[in-house]
Amino acid sequence: MAVLDILTLPDERLRRVAEPVTIFDEALRAFIADLEETRRSGPAAVGIAATQVDVLKRIVIVDVSGRKNTPNHGYLVLINPEIVHWEGYETAREGCLSVPDYTGNVIRATRIRLTANDPWGRPLELEMEGYEARAVQHEMDHLDGTLFVDRVVSRRTDLFRRKVYQKGGQPKGG
Ligand code: NI
Repeated sequence: MAVLDILTLPDERLRRVAEPVTIFDEALRAFIADLEETRRSGPAAVGIAATQVDVLKRIVIVDVSGRKNTPNHGYLVLINPEIVHWEGYETAREGCLSVPDYTGNVIRATRIRLTANDPWGRPLELEMEGYEARAVQHEMDHLDGTLFVDRVVSRRTDLFRRKVYQKGGQPKGG
């Protein structure tokens, strides 16, 4: 396994749209292992998308099980994820490995239902809410070249320099 380099703003490669995965083979699963090792290296993030390591495939990993009192499905590898239902919305702080200097307040759906494939190509259907749903929406945005900074209502009032928040326990991103 290997820790991969993470692209950061303003790298234009973060803006590309990723392609669906069509071949579910050992090479794919080896890449997923590297992606997971990368997620866990450095400041452990709750999620990561393949786009962030310069691989234009529709693959994200999310694991919010480390957060207390957060409903979750544990370690999730979602390939070709599609959100098929949204419900409610709420604003909360997000961070991102590709935006190391800022956090921001972002509106996301509170509950989602999604379809995806697992690393062997088997279909998944999941319902999730709260922070886990937020993390999945954030990671799926990466697959379309969108970053959380694009979704803040106001860059002036809803973006925050990270160092201000470090002492109080900064939100971890992906
Ligand atoms: Ni991110």
